[in-house]
Amino acid sequence: MNKLYYIETFGCQMNVHESEKIAGILVNLGYAETSDRAQANIIVFNTCCIRDTAEKKIFGNIGELKILKKIDKSRIIVIVGCMTQQDGMAEVIATKFPFVDIILGTSNIHLLKEKIEELELRRQRKRGKIISIDNTEKPEVIENVTPYRTSYPNAWVNIMYGCNNFCAYCIVPYVRGRERSREPELIIEEVRSLVKAGYKEITLLGQNVDSYGSDRTDGANFYTLLTKLKEIEGKFRLRFMTSHPKDLSEEVIKLIAETPNFCNNIHLPVQAGSNAVLKAMNRKYDRERYFYLIDTIRKYMPDCGITSDIMVGFPGETEEDFQDTLDLVRRVQYHNAFTFIYSPRKGTVAAKMEQIPYAIKKDRISRLIALQNQITLTLSEAFVGKVKEVLVEDAPKENLLCGRTDCGRLVNFSGDKSLIGQFVNVRIDKNKASALWGEIVNE
Ligand code: SAH
Ligand code: SF4
Ligand code: F3S
Repeated sequence: MNKLYYIETFGCQMNVHESEKIAGILVNLGYAETSDRAQANIIVFNTCCIRDTAEKKIFGNIGELKILKKIDKSRIIVIVGCMTQQDGMAEVIATKFPFVDIILGTSNIHLLKEKIEELELRRQRKRGKIISIDNTEKPEVIENVTPYRTSYPNAWVNIMYGCNNFCAYCIVPYVRGRERSREPELIIEEVRSLVKAGYKEITLLGQNVDSYGSDRTDGANFYTLLTKLKEIEGKFRLRFMTSHPKDLSEEVIKLIAETPNFCNNIHLPVQAGSNAVLKAMNRKYDRERYFYLIDTIRKYMPDCGITSDIMVGFPGETEEDFQDTLDLVRRVQYHNAFTFIYSPRKGTVAAKMEQIPYAIKKDRISRLIALQNQITLTLSEAFVGKVKEVLVEDAPKENLLCGRTDCGRLVNFSGDKSLIGQFVNVRIDKNKASALWGEIVNE
């Protein structure tokens, strides 16, 4: 019988895709996937530390593994991902959870095979755990790990790793190192072969896709990369995340607008609507530049689905600053926005600033969510009666399908799961609490 693996992923899309790479390594070693932790011979936690809540949740989850290890001592427990890269955290995990066997940093995932083999040798000699963290600023880009993809018809493709921006609140540059861009030829080849293999939606991943290539000497940048991806034949959708308002350019917006395969959808996190807060956050743009970008996007793509990340309660944020955020949200009319309460992260600039009481943050986030919900609801109403092309992505239940429009809106409709991976036309009939429901039509 096959040995079984179980992977639990916390955090962003980047981590979801890295878990596919971990799965690739384990499948090569002869493991098969299980969704039941208790059955697994190896349990991997791919962690996130973007906010305190994420971190607390993971600590709780690792704690629960103690009993599983007690039941089966041969079980291998592996902790990887952003959390392990925080200053001193690998040692904290090792001490607090002595049953953890292997801890790997964000740039060392490719070492998993050799670390498992090393662990087996150590166990024979009754030696302890393995910690492998790479703290160099620019770890090498690893190309020899083939992901085991589990999300057909969607596929993720890294175009770059790390971040150079040091937004004052953010831990990512500390745990993921500086920007490293992959070779354009390798990205293009990967997308081409995914399309050939039948994948219908490719999402390019990077913390700031617009600065792709800034570390390269061959002149490649995000625009030139997109112009090459534009040449790939076949019907598929291309999305990317995340765009940064300081770097997104008009030429990129124009290229998206004129390329049928590039989705009418831009995730453009604003974080805050007040210039004073944006400055303190070190975001390097102001609200005027942001409005200019929104106007430019809408000029070329009037029905573009624009989404955002917005934070409340950054140190020093006054009620007036917060009103600026509400005002910006009202003016932009996001299809959707991910809203967060600012959470101080050790080692970042903002963690040392004077903090705002939690009650104020709570109050602000509920007002922000109420406003955005209202906007999402109104914009959802506008979809009713329209026929949209939808990529069938999943079948959550028998005879129930879901998929997204080009602009990124999720639609539910009935149909057989054999349609997964196909483009269908859906007439949207109902907007139920901002969830769109429709029916396949032959138009
Ligand atoms: N690179 C992306 C986002 C990475 S993190 C970008 O620049 O937009 C995803 C989101 O988490 C951020 O957009 C931000 O809104 C939120 N976030 C990051 N650090 C945070 C913190 N300390 N507290 C609360 N939210 C945070
Ligand atoms: Fe964090 Fe800013 Fe980099 Fe995004 S751009 S990952 S928010 S430092
Ligand atoms: Fe992503 Fe969390 Fe790391 S949001 S980059 S997994 S800290």
